[in-house]
Amino acid sequence: MPASRSSCASSVAGSRVSTRTIWSQARRCSGVSQRGVFEAGVTPPIYLTLEPIAPSLRTESSNLNYLEAVMRVAIIGAGNVGAGLAEAATTAGHEVTVVAAHQENAVEVAGNVGAKAAATAAEAAQGADVVVLAVPAGAAAGVLREVKGAGAVVVDATNPLNDTFSDLTTGGTSHAEQLAAGAPGVKLVKAFNTVFASRLGAPSEDGRPLDGFYAGDDDAAKQVAADLLASLGFRPVDAGSLRMARSLEELAFLNISLNARNGWTWQSGWRLAGPTA
Ligand SMILES: NC(=O)c1ccc[n+]([C@@H]2O[C@H](COP(=O)([O-])OP(=O)(O)OC[C@H]3O[C@@H](n4cnc5c(N)ncnc54)[C@H](OP(=O)(O)O)[C@@H]3O)[C@@H](O)[C@H]2O)c1
Repeated sequence: MPASRSSCASSVAGSRVSTRTIWSQARRCSGVSQRGVFEAGVTPPIYLTLEPIAPSLRTESSNLNYLEAVMRVAIIGAGNVGAGLAEAATTAGHEVTVVAAHQENAVEVAGNVGAKAAATAAEAAQGADVVVLAVPAGAAAGVLREVKGAGAVVVDATNPLNDTFSDLTTGGTSHAEQLAAGAPGVKLVKAFNTVFASRLGAPSEDGRPLDGFYAGDDDAAKQVAADLLASLGFRPVDAGSLRMARSLEELAFLNISLNARNGWTWQSGWRLAGPTA
C-alpha cells in the first residue's frame, strides 16, 4: 500500500539528501516505478520503447534547493513522458495531477507515484501553476482547448513526428508555434521535448546536470518552465522566443534519429560543453 502523498513529500522536503536517496524514497512511497511501456499485445514505435535508466547510472543532481518551491503541476498524458514526469515531479515535492485518455491509466500512474488523477484535462488544469502537454502531437491542440481556460502556463513537451518517425510534420514552423497560434492568450512554452522519458528521473551525467532547453514568448511563463526543469535536476537553458521551438523540435528529432540509426539505448541527453555562462 503506498504511503500517503503528503507524508512522502514532507519527508523528502525536510531533508537534504542525494537524488539517489530520494529515488529510493520515492519507490518506497509509491511501491512501483515508471509505468511499463510494453503493454500486452502492443508493439510500440521504437521511440516509445524507453526503459527507465538503471539506478546505478543515476548521478547526483543539483535540484535539492528547489524542494521548497512546490508547484501545482498538471500532466496531460500518462505514458512514457507523463509517467516519468509525474514520478520526477512528485519526487521533487511538487503537487502533481495526471490525466490520460483512459482514466484507468491516469489512476494507475498517479497511484504509483503519489499523485492525483483527474477525470478530464480541464479538471487537471484547474488551479495548476503549469500544465504539461505530454500527449501525442496530434492530440495536443484538442487538449490545449480543454485546458486554456484555467490560465496556467502551458508547457508543450510534444514532438510532431510522422507515423514512421522519419521526419517532423511541421515543415518550416514548429508544433509549438502552431499550438500557440490556435490558442491566443495562452502562455505557452516549449520544454521537456528534448529530454527522453528515460532521463526525466536521471537528469545528470558524470555528476553534471543535463541541459533542459526551453523557448517561449512570455518571460514569466518561461521562468515557470525553467523552475520546473531546475527542480527536477536539469540545467535550464533559455533558447529564446517560441521561434526557437523549431530548433528544439529538430534537436529532439536528431536524438531520436541517432538512437534509431545507431541502436543506442534511448538514454542520451543534451548538454552543451564549453563556456555557456
Ligand atoms: N517518449 C519520450 O521519450 C519523449 C520525450 C520527449 C517528448 N516526447 C513527446 O511527448 C509526447 C508523449 O510521448 P509519450 O512517449 O509519453 O507517449 P505515450 O507513451 O504514447 O503516451 C501518450 C499519453 O497521452 C495520453 N493521451 C492521448 N490523448 C489524450 C487526450 N486527448 N487527453 C488526455 N490524454 C491523452 C494517452 O492516454 P492513455 O494512456 O489513456 O492512452 C497516454 O497516456 C509525444 O508528443 C512525444 O513526441 C516523448
